[in-house]
This record gives sequence, C-alpha cells and structure tokens, in this order.
Amino acid sequence: MVNANQARRLVVLGTGGTIAGRATRANDNVGYVAGQVAVGDLVAMVPALAACPLDVEQVAQINSKDMVLGVWQALAAKVAEHLDRPEVAGVVITHGTDTIEETAFLLQTRLRPSKPVVLTCAMRPATALVPDGPQNLSDAVAVAMHPGARGVMVVCAGRIHDAIDVAKVHPYRTDPFDSGDAGDLGCVEEAQLRLFRPWPDAVRQGSHDHAGLQRLLAAASLPRVELIFSHANADGEVVRALLGHTAGAARLRGLVVAGTGNGTVHDDLLAALKQAEASGVEVVVASRCARGRVVPHAGQPLADSGGLSPVKARLALALQLLEV
Ligand code: SIN
Repeated sequence: MVNANQARRLVVLGTGGTIAGRATRANDNVGYVAGQVAVGDLVAMVPALAACPLDVEQVAQINSKDMVLGVWQALAAKVAEHLDRPEVAGVVITHGTDTIEETAFLLQTRLRPSKPVVLTCAMRPATALVPDGPQNLSDAVAVAMHPGARGVMVVCAGRIHDAIDVAKVHPYRTDPFDSGDAGDLGCVEEAQLRLFRPWPDAVRQGSHDHAGLQRLLAAASLPRVELIFSHANADGEVVRALLGHTAGAARLRGLVVAGTGNGTVHDDLLAALKQAEASGVEVVVASRCARGRVVPHAGQPLADSGGLSPVKARLALALQLLEV
C-alpha cells in the first residue's frame, strides 16, 4: 500500500547543462564549462528542497549541444522506470537549454506520461554571482508536485511550456524560451501555479507507448534524417551530396527542409528534393519562420510538418522511420 505521503516522492535526474556549469569567475556568464556540478549539489543549493522527499540521480553530465542517442535512451529508460513507481509523484530533469526542446519532445511523444515530467535548466552557470538555476529548479519542483500535473514540460524563468510547443528563442537572456502561437501553459509565482491551458496530452498511467519506447531503447542508431534550409541561391547540391552517402546506417532516410514563409522552397532545391523522394527518402517541409506553421493548401509539393518546428520535425521523422 502506498500512503499519500509516499506518493508525493519526487525524482530529480541530472543530465548536465549550464545549470550545472562552472566558470572561473563569478561574473562570467558565457565562458563557463557546462555539465560540471553534480545534480545532488544543485539540489542542495535550494534549501527549501531539503524538506521534500527526493531521490536524486545523475544520468549524464554533458553540454546538451552534444546530446546523443545513448543519453536519450538512458534518460527515457530512467524516467519510465521511476514513473512506474507508485510512490513517485513526478520527475524533474536538469538539462542544458540548447537541446532541451528536443529531449522534451522525445519524452512526451514516447511516454505521454500521466505524471509530470518537468525539465528545467539555467542560462547562467551554478557559479554565477546571481545564478538562475536554483529558482528554476525550485519552480520545476512546484510544478511536479502540483496535484493533477501531467505530461512533459519545460520550466524556466517562471514560465511553464508544453514540450511540443517550446523553442529556445534567445541565446543569452535568462528567459530564453517561447511557446509561439500556442502560448505558455502557465506560470509559477511564489511556488503557486497559474495555468493558462490544459496539461499536455497523456495516456493512463502504466500504459506508456511501450512499443515506441522499446524501439527507441533498442535502437543502435536513429535513422539518418538531415535538416536543411531553403534560402536565396539554394541549388540542391547539398541534397545531391547527401544522396551520395548510401552505405549502412549513414544512408539518408529522411530530409526536413526549413522552407521560406509558408513552407515554400527554392525551385532548384525543390528539384533535388523531388529526386530524393524518388529514391525513397522521406521529405518533410517546415517553416523557417520563428512563429506560426505551414498553412496547408492544395498543390503543396511536399508533406508538411504539421506545425512542428524544423528541429522537432527532424526528430519526429527519425522516430517515425524507426517504426518502419
Ligand atoms: C547546454 O545546453 O548544455 C549548454 C547551454 C545551456 O544550458 O544554456
């Protein structure tokens, strides 16, 4: 039997990032090394968390720009394992800001958890004069402990973002994320939540998308899907070069093109993309515009990303190709 108190246990998983970064000078917010401080020490920087029943585990210690399949697999397996523990109310993950939107997307689409999985981060290293990590971690815990919370979210600068919509939009500010047209999911004010829209989509507890998760965990590599841009003077040479790589796991399986405006693509690049399609490569178009989505219309020459940003469309296509 699990009593109500035990069911409020939280798990904090560390993966690195600036939140765990260390600089040689306290006033250096850019020349630091990410992924240095142990997640247990990050938790210890937030005195209020001492009263919270927490399990703390270091899954990785990386700069998230260097994210690889192996770390995603370890993290997804750990999250699924902890969510299955009846006494665990939710999971908080400390992560770098640079690819947090991809990790959040991966976890939401593979797990669709009925408990909260809250990724948090920082733009200033742990050694900064005024680090932002401790407040973000404290806010993430408030979200993960909130009754009824579910799904994968990113919490930063007092804002709660849905994993599907969140994107990093600024390289320096301590509030670097935006949820575009969808808007924030809510905010955290003095540990209180104010929700603006429903929690992310979830499936009943214990009925995770096991097949999709197992395929991800068993994969030796992700199918090769490259991301390219349409731009002035684009001539398709990059596509033809990619098509030249036909060997083994390096073989091109998919292409996402970040198109101009409403997903339009330079005619010369489009010709190369059609050649790729003809040779069996899946091609998807997203918009390179920072906001909005490709508005579908008759005669669209390429399949569109269904509103996903180019980086998320790339990951979505790789995961889809893993299924076939
Ligand atoms: C990283 O993504 O690991 C480094 C940058 C950051 O966390 O802001």
